[in-house]
Order: sequence, then structure tokens, then C-alpha cells
Amino acid sequence: MRRKLYLETFGCQMNVLDSELVMGQLRSQGYQATEDRDSADVILYNTCSVREHAEQKVWSRLGELRDRKKNDPKLVIGVIGCMAERDGADIFRRHPHIDILCGPGELDKLAGMVHNAVVTHDSTDSRPARQVALMGANVRRSGTLAAAEDRLELLDLSRSVGPADEVAQAYVRITRGCNKFCTYCVVPYTRGPEVHRPPGNIIDEVRRLADAGSREVTLLGQTINHYAYEHGDGRTTTFADLLYQIHEATPHLPRLRFVTSYPRDFTDGALRAMRDCPRICQYLHVPAQSGSDRILKLMNRGYTAGAYRDFISRAREMMPDLCVASDFIIGFPTENEDDFAATVDLVRFGRFKNSFIFKYSPRPGTVAIDRFSDDVPEDVKRRRNKELLAVQQEVCGENNRAMVGKTVRVLVEGESKLVSKQAYPSAPTPGGVELGWERPGAETSRRTQLVGRTTGDQIVVFDGDITQKGQLLDVRIVRSTYMTLFAEPAVKDHMLVNEAF
Ligand code: 5AD
Ligand code: SF4
Repeated sequence: MRRKLYLETFGCQMNVLDSELVMGQLRSQGYQATEDRDSADVILYNTCSVREHAEQKVWSRLGELRDRKKNDPKLVIGVIGCMAERDGADIFRRHPHIDILCGPGELDKLAGMVHNAVVTHDSTDSRPARQVALMGANVRRSGTLAAAEDRLELLDLSRSVGPADEVAQAYVRITRGCNKFCTYCVVPYTRGPEVHRPPGNIIDEVRRLADAGSREVTLLGQTINHYAYEHGDGRTTTFADLLYQIHEATPHLPRLRFVTSYPRDFTDGALRAMRDCPRICQYLHVPAQSGSDRILKLMNRGYTAGAYRDFISRAREMMPDLCVASDFIIGFPTENEDDFAATVDLVRFGRFKNSFIFKYSPRPGTVAIDRFSDDVPEDVKRRRNKELLAVQQEVCGENNRAMVGKTVRVLVEGESKLVSKQAYPSAPTPGGVELGWERPGAETSRRTQLVGRTTGDQIVVFDGDITQKGQLLDVRIVRSTYMTLFAEPAVKDHMLVNEAF
């Protein structure tokens, strides 16, 4: 009998990719994916620790499973990802019925752990199988780092890309971990130090995805523009080099994106690569976090608001149609009205395509929770959050109005009902719902409302035929709201531009 596996993903795109990779490994070992938690033999949660809210969701899921496990002691339950790494002991203390804890740096071991847990339950009694793999504090010691690098590389290399797995949109990791240590952030502790994947492996992976029919590949890294691979013989492949090389190696891939950029390490070379390679999207996600120099310093971000503005101006000078998205944390300790006003100014200056706005959430283990008290009252955080959202919506409205009358090229993602599920592109979406691509399949012709995206990641809705999913079309924007652009065919019955991207 094939065992059924339920896997729910919380958080960022890295987690979405990790889930895909471990699911591939477990499938190849005979597990069958199910969307129905109640009938699953193995339940896994791939978790996020970036804000407390994301963790709360997982705690409540684990609570829901307590009774089920009593009635069904052979059920295997695992917590994987950042929360397992950050909070493992606490998870076992509060939920002794859990079998597996596996951190994001140990996922190559997960398939074996699941197997062990299943076998243990089959052959013994109802005690939890207790399979644990966490990096712990060891990971920042260089000896273990090299070993961890090699093991994890195998996980990415294990990706099975065949026609059956064909996906229109795919993620490819280029770096793991983070060395920035922003004072509020758990990522350097949960995902470990920054390591860069060999360029050959990355290029191969993108090429295999493009060969299998992927229409858009998004390269992933926490501070992606920091990528630089030392070959060991004096040669270095920079981020700009990597972009040129992937672009050249995959002429059949319509779109290449990357997230998330750090405002400080962006070279002119990388901007030129974006400008010069027509299939690299004119989109940057560059979190600013705050517009106040005082707060940026407390956050250990290593740049000023002025430097951030200069970067945006430099990028727009080279790419006038560039769309930029940002993240902001409001209510960081000691943030006053002047600091907040500076953030509002930056949102207006940045003319962001969108901003992801988060209320500061103190995270155990970070520098900020030790050094500062969470002294901005909740109602003030809430008000500033609302105000900043309103400013961003105004900016979105202006940006979108300026698009009316223009003809844009969109990649068709599917039916427009998906618009309501628009999710955070690079990190914490509680529930982890991505704006999903439907698998291209044997769709029969049917008129419907379609949704597509511009190279700048703007959402465009228009009437078309479901068989156009995955195609590049030129459409003319005729109407806008702050969230969505509405379009009609640029020429009678959508011009198909697939041959000319
Ligand atoms: N509180 C609130 N937001 C946070 N982020 C990261 N850590 C925290 C925190 N402790 C936000 C940042 C980051 C995004 C992924 O999540 O804006 O860019
Ligand atoms: Fe966290 Fe991003 Fe800062 Fe790294 S650069 S510590 S991932 S906020």
C-alpha cells in the first residue's frame, strides 16, 4: 500500500522550493501526495519563524492533531523548516506526540527520517519515533559548513524535472542562508550562513526546467545580488556573470526573475545585465525596511535612506520601466512619528509597485529582542500600518492609472479567480498560498477571464481563451484599480508573440 503524505507549507518562496524538493524525494520513495490531511499517514508542516503570527498558525495545527494521534498512534507527524530549527525543544515539550523535527539545513535527511518513523510505528508500539535533525549552533563552524554545503547541494540536485513534473513557473535556489544579521531577523540563525551554489549546477537546473517547458524561472536567495562564486582557481562568477550565463544558456525560457535583493550590494554590472538581457524581467524586490536613518542603524541594515534612494534612481535611470517592490517593518523599537514620516516619504519617493508592510514582531534569539524593548504600543503600530498601507495604495493607484492606454506583454497564468489569492512573493505568507500556476494540460478551448503578469510583475486581467495559458500576449490596458490592470487584446484576437520574446 502506498502511504499518503500531506505537506503544508508556510512562509517564503525558499520554503515552497524546499517543500517541492522533499516532496520529490518522498514520492520517489513511494509516498503519494494528498491534499486531504484527515486521510494522510504522514503529516508534515514546513514552517516559518519570521514573525510570531506565522508560528501561531503552526502551533494551532499541532494542537488540532493531538486527538487524532491518540486515536491513530501510527500517524507520523513532522515539523520541518525554520520553526523546527528555532524552537525544536519547545515543540517536543508542548507536543510530545510529534515524531520528526528537521531544520531547513538538514532536509536532505528528511526522506530517511520519515521512513524510519514509519517503520518504527509499524514494528513497535505507539511511542513517537523521535527523529531529529537540526543544525544547532554548530553550523557556523567552518568544518561543518563545508560538509553541510555538499549535502544540501545534493538535495537541490535531486530535483526531478520530467514532462510529468512540468511546471510553468519554477524556483531555483542560487544562495542559501544569510550573513547580514539584521537585528530583528531569525533567518541567519535558522537557515545558517550564506553559501553560494556552483554556477554550473544552477545553469543546468534552469536549462532542464526550460527544456521541460517552464515559462518563468525565479532565482531565489535571501540577499541574491550578493552572489559571487569562487571557483578556487582565482576565478569568480559574479551575480551579473551568472545572469548573463543563464540568459545565454536558455534561449527557450521566456522569463527569468530573481528575489530578494539587498539594497547595498547591487552593482552596475547586475543592473546592466537586467537592461541588456531581454528575457530578464524588469522587476526588483528590494526591501527598504524603514525610511529613517536612525532606525536603519538600529536594524543593522548598513545603508541610509539616501543611499537607498540613490540606488532606486540609478536603477530607474538604466531601466525606465523598472517595477520595484519593497518591504517595511513599522513599529520597530523606539520608532517615533518623525521616523515614521521618513518611511512615508520613502514610499512616495519609491513609487513602489507594492510594499509588504509588517508590524515589528520581536523574535527570540535575535539581537533586537535582547537589546530593545518592544516599546511602540500595539495601537500605534496598527495606526501606522494602516496609514502606510493607504499611502502605498495611493501610489499603486497612480502607477496603474499611468499604465492605461499602454500596450504590455503578459505571460498568461490562468483564470483570473487567482487574483484574489495574490501572495507575498518572497517571504511570509501565513498559509503559504502562492499565486498558483495551474499545470498546463490538455485544456479544451473555453472563453474565460484570464490573468497574466507583465515583466514588472503587474497583474493584468483580460478576456481570452483558457488554451492561452502559458503564452506571451500583447494586450492594451484600458482600465485600472489600485490592485489590477484590465486589458483588451492589442490586436484582434490576441497577438501571439511567443516566437518573438
Ligand atoms: N518582524 C516583522 N517583520 C519582519 N521581517 C523579518 N523579520 C521581521 C520581524 N521580526 C520582514 C522584513 C523582511 C520580510 C521577509 O519579513 O520586512 O524583509
Ligand atoms: Fe533577515 Fe533579509 Fe536581513 Fe538576512 S538580509 S538578516 S534574511 S532581513
